[in-house]
Amino acid sequence: MAVKLDHVTFSYNVSDAYRVDALKDLSLQIEEGTFVALVGHNGSGKSTLAKLLNGLLLPTSGDVRIFGNSTLDPDKIYDIRKSVGMVFQNPDNQMIASIVEDDIAFGPENLGIERQEIERRVEWALSKVGMSQYRKQTPFKMSGGQKQRLAIAGVLAIMPKILVLDESTAMLDPKGRSEVLKVAHELNKQEGITVIHITHFMEEALNADRLIVLDSGRIAFDDTPEEVFKHYEELKAIKLAVPWETQLAISLKKVGIDIGEGTVKDEELIDNLCRLL
Ligand SMILES: Nc1ncnc2c1ncn2[C@@H]1O[C@H](COP(=O)(O)OP(=O)(O)OP(=O)(O)O)[C@@H](O)[C@H]1O
Ligand SMILES: [Mg+2]
Repeated sequence: MAVKLDHVTFSYNVSDAYRVDALKDLSLQIEEGTFVALVGHNGSGKSTLAKLLNGLLLPTSGDVRIFGNSTLDPDKIYDIRKSVGMVFQNPDNQMIASIVEDDIAFGPENLGIERQEIERRVEWALSKVGMSQYRKQTPFKMSGGQKQRLAIAGVLAIMPKILVLDESTAMLDPKGRSEVLKVAHELNKQEGITVIHITHFMEEALNADRLIVLDSGRIAFDDTPEEVFKHYEELKAIKLAVPWETQLAISLKKVGIDIGEGTVKDEELIDNLCRLL
């Protein structure tokens, strides 16, 4: 199992008298190769969960295991950090070097990997995110989407088995968002990398294998996106809106036209509408 959380609770001790329970008795398993979308309202615990996955945070109680290794085991933490690559929200905070190839090489260099292998990885990582032609350039003037793809390449150079994107599309324009999402799906399909995509945008969950909805530190829903979106009333109650395709299906149903509540993908929606005609 790529990820296994067993009754995990995490509390931030703000002061002796004040504690925030960010995750509450959360159990969860993610199989290797899955593309998981993780959504939830502000403060629902998404980033806390992400940080628990690579041992940046350790559970207050319970156990987090990555490929069987507990993040509480000091002998395993190095392996865990190599297995779980994290990309964050701000594209400007994740660049270290002023030349793209140096930036990508930084991770493997720190792992003490030999020069030739680093070269190979830089080339591979850049090609995977479609940025090979920028190898000798400076990242600073690039678009947000390009910078995030470079951030992903930087993480890829460490050869992680799990890629966690914590709102990595949040600050991007629609083009940048779709570029980053496309790269994440390709890495999942072509390289078998397990992807955990944290997002505010429900429509970014459409093509995920699995959609997990967090609410106040607990799992509210965990199913295929199609199944989860059927609970649009409950989702609305926890301040999450279903994608417009689902919204349209709901509105049509209210006037007596049933094209299926689970209709979430554009092609499916078009098929169902055509059948009506
Ligand atoms: N360093 C911290 N100290 C104290 N409380 C914190 C800290 N970080 C997060 N919290 C609290 O823990 C809870 C979960 O926060 P978390 O950042 O995991 O949520 P999130 O779902 O990622 O939110 P967002 O959508 O805003 O990124 C929130 O109540 C938050 O205020
Ligand atoms: Mg967050």
